[in-house]
Amino acid sequence: MPGIRGPSEYSQEPSRDPCLKVNAKEPFNAEPPRSALVSSYVTPVHLFYKRNHGPIPIVDHIESYSVSVTGLIDNPTKLFIKDIRSLPKYNVTATLQCAGNRRTAMSKVRNVRGVGWDVSALGNAVWGGAKLADVLELLGIPKLTSSTVLGGRHVEFVSVDRCKEENGGPYKASIPLSQATNPDADVLLAYEMNGEILNRDHGFPLRVVVPGVIGARSVKWLDSINILAEECQGFFMQKDYKMFPPSVNWDNIDWSSRRPQMDFPVQSAICSLEDVQMVKPGKVSIKGYAVSGGGRGIERVDISMDGGKSWVEASRTQKPGEHYISEHNSSDKWAWVLFEATVDVSQSTEVIAKAVDSAANVQPENVESVWNLRGVLNTSWHRVLLRLGHSNL
Ligand code: MTE
Repeated sequence: MPGIRGPSEYSQEPSRDPCLKVNAKEPFNAEPPRSALVSSYVTPVHLFYKRNHGPIPIVDHIESYSVSVTGLIDNPTKLFIKDIRSLPKYNVTATLQCAGNRRTAMSKVRNVRGVGWDVSALGNAVWGGAKLADVLELLGIPKLTSSTVLGGRHVEFVSVDRCKEENGGPYKASIPLSQATNPDADVLLAYEMNGEILNRDHGFPLRVVVPGVIGARSVKWLDSINILAEECQGFFMQKDYKMFPPSVNWDNIDWSSRRPQMDFPVQSAICSLEDVQMVKPGKVSIKGYAVSGGGRGIERVDISMDGGKSWVEASRTQKPGEHYISEHNSSDKWAWVLFEATVDVSQSTEVIAKAVDSAANVQPENVESVWNLRGVLNTSWHRVLLRLGHSNL
């Protein structure tokens, strides 16, 4: 690959913030402490979770780096960074969430396979780059196209990193052409994160950002874009990141029976408190995030102190000091919503958060009902236990 290469070992990894909670060393996967996560609407880059399946690629020569576009299009071509930068630049505020967020809580029910994430395998960033719809239009595929003349219906993104799951081959994923060519879907080829050049961990020099969809489809270190008749046949589309019912185990699993997961479901988590938190009697502030997939807003976040018998509604914000309104023009539709409620605590009790999205989808009550062997999409009510005692809270 001109200008960029994927190393086979981990001697040239970038430096990372020491406060990150490391969940797997090689490859490096880490999340910020939950208390730090919602201290700002836009997650600082150094606190943004990192999910890598192999060693981080190295860019030797940015001028010769290019993305090849091949497959079922009339004019296969190569795009250089200057070509992507010459297209209109968009800044899209979008939350990226790993499908495995909150996996550790699922593994308490029954063992699951995967990186042990707490509640912070997500972050909200301002991604800067060109719209994929504009890139494809430049190459002769009009906006809002579901099939090319040659029969292409899917857009595959291939990276340069080497992953053991792909037997040393690159990470890859695809999205439907109809989504890729829809300017309102805001799919980006991003070269900036929070106004800075993307860093190596997050995909330098170019990554895909597919808003509202599980993080696995936002391919980093882009090497090629292929227009295909069928969806990508890579490991992470066909043998991973699918949601199975609780009855499926490693002996009876049939990967082909399920579709690759795309949109993420409605989710929320309390971040101001640990799973078991000592508090003094009196007022306790409950803060966290809520987010849904597919561009659906957050209609409500409810807090319960009595196991779900009664609820109070939390306040919601995106921009500091401004009340958030779901589906409003001024709201960032791909981004999380921060919530806050103050409760009175007079005895040890459980605090529960549950969010409702703009389609009235509600988080499921129990983790048991959504348990699956890969531990993905744990969106069950988030619960923390408050114990009365000596505390600074
Ligand atoms: N792209 C490549 N090339 N390699 C990867 O390992 N991981 C995916 C996705 N894109 C991955 C990738 C997964 S599973 C997630 S959740 C997101 O990147 C994480 O993005 P981040 O590390 O920038 O937070």
